[in-house]
Amino acid sequence: VELGMGQGGLAVARVFARAGSAEIYLRGAHVSAWVPTGGSPVIWMSEQSEYAPGVPLRGGVPICFPWFGAHPTDATAPSHGFARLADWRLAEAREAGDDVVLVFVLTDTEATRASAWPHRFEARYTVTVGAQLALSLQVTNLDTAQLSYEEALHTYLAVADIRQTEVSGLEGAPFTDRLTGPRPAESEPVRFDAETDRIYLNSTAATTVTDTATGRQITIMKQGSASTVVWNPWIDKAAAMADFGDNEYTGMVCVETCNVRDNAITLAPGAGHEMSVRYSVA
Ligand code: BG6
Repeated sequence: VELGMGQGGLAVARVFARAGSAEIYLRGAHVSAWVPTGGSPVIWMSEQSEYAPGVPLRGGVPICFPWFGAHPTDATAPSHGFARLADWRLAEAREAGDDVVLVFVLTDTEATRASAWPHRFEARYTVTVGAQLALSLQVTNLDTAQLSYEEALHTYLAVADIRQTEVSGLEGAPFTDRLTGPRPAESEPVRFDAETDRIYLNSTAATTVTDTATGRQITIMKQGSASTVVWNPWIDKAAAMADFGDNEYTGMVCVETCNVRDNAITLAPGAGHEMSVRYSVA
């Protein structure tokens, strides 16, 4: 593990394991790269991403916490929560067999306690880098009262061509289309020919992203996660985002490991919850 300066002068941990390498910005504990040795990048980053204070990175694995999307009551609160904008502490880095394991920690501060989510908590994020990439977000309630939160590991996966990409594993599951509302289950894998923004609740199944243009398959196995979000902004939304190149939407898809909306997590004082995901490539 090398600690250094990344883009925009931000602190970054560069990880070189036997079977894979990765890069994690301390701001947001944001995985911005994972490349299995001898393979091509699995995690997508926008060429237009900003690396500036108060702005999340575009691409990688944003950690959405403690809410997902716009805050339900506070319009001034940042989209997808404060965790992706906060500086996490690198608490641990060690070898585990062929893998390298890093643990990042975020706790409440005066600013978070004054925010729209005024709770005492500890979040521990474990990143295991090797031939596979494993991510685990463990949240503990350090408050004297119950608390609730939403969370997402909002992973941007690299694909050769979104128009030749399929996401399987969600067949038979109803979903909410964030553009049009509740939708019945489909019997086919998700395919993309327009803006796609879907929330699947009570969705615990593994998913596979098949990149037909290259034959690469990325398998996503998860635990402690009851929701899945699938997102591609397509042409107009990509054009409307300053930190997203106009033509970059063809090269990515977000398949997000989450607990959102009715699947939000409620913790009694002292209790914890762990959500984890493992990516493998074939
Ligand atoms: C997705 C949401 O998870 O994140 C989309 O479903 C949203 O609606 C996207 O546009 C990106 O969000 P942001 O805040 O990073 O631009």
